[in-house]
Amino acid sequence: MQRVIASGRYTMGENVRRFEEAFREKFGVKHAFMVSSGSAANLVGIAALFYVKDRPLRRGDEVIVPAVAWATTYYPLQQYGLRLKFLDCELDTLNMDLSRLEEALTPRTRMVVAVSILGNPCALDKLRAFCDRHGLYLFEDNCESLGASLNGKLAGTFGDIGTFSTFFSHHISTMEGGMVVTGNTEIYHVAKSIRAHGWTRDLPPDTKAYERRDDEFFEAYRFILPGYNTRPLELSGAVGVEQLKKLESMIETRRRNAALFQKLFARDARFIIQRENDRRSWFCFTIVLSPDRAIDRARVMAALKAADIDFRVITGGNFLRHDVIRYFDYERVGEIKNADIVHDRGFFVGNHPHDLTPQIERLREVLDAAAR
Ligand SMILES: Cc1ncc(COP(=O)(O)O)c(C=O)c1O
Repeated sequence: MQRVIASGRYTMGENVRRFEEAFREKFGVKHAFMVSSGSAANLVGIAALFYVKDRPLRRGDEVIVPAVAWATTYYPLQQYGLRLKFLDCELDTLNMDLSRLEEALTPRTRMVVAVSILGNPCALDKLRAFCDRHGLYLFEDNCESLGASLNGKLAGTFGDIGTFSTFFSHHISTMEGGMVVTGNTEIYHVAKSIRAHGWTRDLPPDTKAYERRDDEFFEAYRFILPGYNTRPLELSGAVGVEQLKKLESMIETRRRNAALFQKLFARDARFIIQRENDRRSWFCFTIVLSPDRAIDRARVMAALKAADIDFRVITGGNFLRHDVIRYFDYERVGEIKNADIVHDRGFFVGNHPHDLTPQIERLREVLDAAAR
């Protein structure tokens, strides 16, 4: 950070490029580019799908989404006029329940949004196969699951587009920041233009996204798409390069903490903890108070607060329960039952890339007493 400050160059430059290159290599993807946040990654990614020449999305197209995800997973879908079809989540993995996936499909369906909740890979292989079978885009919002993998393949690399967040509470932190990955060069070029003003400046001369003229003066400020400014900072890029080097060891520590959490909570029927789907990167420890027991969540929350243990709602809970839903064009596919249970009876406590043995033992004590 000191080196960046001394350099005098603060916005998107060499350090961001180095982070992008390291990320591209680590994830084994063709293209990766950094933006100012995970939300910006989702926005730019969705926008790009409207401006590609090959199979663009159109307003009114339908997209299948899980009922539990983050608010800014959904906002770009609303902002670009898509119609959302909500599927319930599974109570154990907290990821989208695929049992009604076929039912959600109509001739207007164009895309599925996959969200791996809090470090736990969703059924990315099944969703990829479903999308391939029906000619749909798979948009992978992987902002909560950096470093998780399914069948040896990293989460975030199954989609036509994958997005990541490096916000300060996530697996790696660049203070604020996000990344978009894709194997599709047209999507990459369109999205890169949309990242910064919709201009052509950041595109290579041989791009197929537009036709370049032999006029440097004109090309320096040539606007081709209705874009944004979602440029990342050099400080974030520089921090990202160092953070990425530590990713594996930080996840190992998170997984060791998780092993203790599982040992202490797995066999207690009062608490439903997240069932791991292959290799989790353990963002945090989720607990849903069993709907079969009369345990009052408010009492449990009060006990945690009194013990100075911080907690959060599981991702955003059931998104359909938030006021903002009134602005959406949407439909439920089947009953949204488990997402309501998660909304009303769930919470999470943070994990961290340090040994949390005493904290997790204390969590067990406090919850055990509060849920008696
Ligand atoms: C699933 C999901 N998508 C997107 C985001 C947005 O990321 P950011 O906070 O970097 O904008 C989050 C944030 O936690 C998230 O959980």
